[in-house]
Amino acid sequence: MTKPALTKETVVIAIDGPAASGKSTVARELAKRLGYRFLNSGDLYRAMTWSCLQSGIDCKDISAVATAAGNARIKVAHEGNEYYPKIDEDDARTHLRDPAVNANVSPVSAVPAVRYILSAAIRTHAQGRQTVIEGRDIGSAVFPETPYKFYIDAHPQVRQRRRRNQGQNEEIAQRDMIDSTRSTDPLTVAAGATVIDSSTLDVNGVVGAIMGQLCSQGLSAALLCSKE
Ligand code: DC
Repeated sequence: MTKPALTKETVVIAIDGPAASGKSTVARELAKRLGYRFLNSGDLYRAMTWSCLQSGIDCKDISAVATAAGNARIKVAHEGNEYYPKIDEDDARTHLRDPAVNANVSPVSAVPAVRYILSAAIRTHAQGRQTVIEGRDIGSAVFPETPYKFYIDAHPQVRQRRRRNQGQNEEIAQRDMIDSTRSTDPLTVAAGATVIDSSTLDVNGVVGAIMGQLCSQGLSAALLCSKE
């Protein structure tokens, strides 16, 4: 992928990790504390999946999904400090965690054309801004040049319990398998990423560890280091 260089005022903090590792909650809280915007990149993959389902497309049909992605008008809108996706002007936020989306989002996100298109949209919207972005490949593939990369993990049983506590029956092991073994931009620990195991940490614990690392890397040192 040809990536336009990021301007010097652009700051991306990449928070990657497997499903239910706690990365969304952590990334949102971190963005709030830093006054940055927050983008959950998984929501773009979920919105694309919802859009395919709405059009009656078989999400396992790679070429139909790729064509739909190529034709989709993708926007990243924002409300306050949070970005959210709009596909063909459709705000699908209330459907992003529907069971049908949960069941189909991993195969849709494994389609190389989908990844290419959504990764480009994510880079475009980060340009010139300070954003905390969470996902699977943000540090490894979408923004390999950012110095601020984190990988949040947790024991599989802890993650499965978290999903159940959120009232969702999603099978974590199945999602892990598809996300980690797809050929394009699989879930992986990015080179240089700080790995944090959240199994026994609460949100404050994980955010504190990230702030400490950012502080030691010199990011907005006055703000970070005085607050912690
Ligand atoms: O984080 P999540 O569970 O909402 O992600 C939904 C799916 O989207 C997940 O199966 C992996 C995929 N995804 C991805 O492939 N790349 C990203 N940057 C973010 C999510």
